[in-house]
Amino acid sequence: MQQYKDHKQIHIMDHPLISHKLAILRDQRTGTQEFRNVVSELATLMTYEATRNMTTEEVEVQTPIGMAKCRMLSGKKVAIVPILRAGLGMVDGMLTLLPSAKVGHIGLYRNPETLQPVEYYCKLPQDVAERDVLVVDPMLATGGSATAAIQFLKDYGCTKITMLNLLAAPEGLDVVAKDHPDVEVFIAALDDHLNENGYIVPGLGDAGDRIFGTK
Ligand code: PRP
Ligand code: URA
Repeated sequence: MQQYKDHKQIHIMDHPLISHKLAILRDQRTGTQEFRNVVSELATLMTYEATRNMTTEEVEVQTPIGMAKCRMLSGKKVAIVPILRAGLGMVDGMLTLLPSAKVGHIGLYRNPETLQPVEYYCKLPQDVAERDVLVVDPMLATGGSATAAIQFLKDYGCTKITMLNLLAAPEGLDVVAKDHPDVEVFIAALDDHLNENGYIVPGLGDAGDRIFGTK
């Protein structure tokens, strides 16, 4: 994994499987069904990488042959919080590896004129403040939605927040790094820049529309 600029908390993945699947997503010929499946697979792969520092504790397990000293996950429980709507596409892939995680939802859409995030829904697990929170959204463009969602979770008392995005633009990553330097961010790829409409270039287009087939 690579680091973004001098931000030790921002990680850019460089696994061949992740690169390969991202190339499929970027391709404009990829249809809704395949797009959705690949987003889910990428979410699983990213979760595997993003959870590598989870705490474990030693346990003893009786095998058919003898006692084994093993390590199992310990510590806080996990909440997955997708930013609606595109973030929903990543949830099932993450639950594959974290089946006992609770799932909260934050509804935000970007005003196409101002590019500012507009909140329309929020439902979080009651004990979200005691959980390690994985916020997920395929796209981090201006960073407005990500910073708003993270701030929202902090206002609920969350202290351990990790963000997972498939693609990010440098403009948005800089905003998140400045506003929330305590949040670890994992992205599958760093793109070039934003265009005049706030879309990531080269990007993959509108993630929500491609996941749900709305365009
Ligand atoms: C997209 C994307 C992010 C946001 C990123 O959502 O899924 O939430 O834009 O842009 P930003 O970094 O500039 O805030 P969109 O607003 O298109 O809503 P949708 O998921 O409902 O399609
Ligand atoms: N939202 C998307 O879905 N795509 C972008 O490129 C930017 C914001």
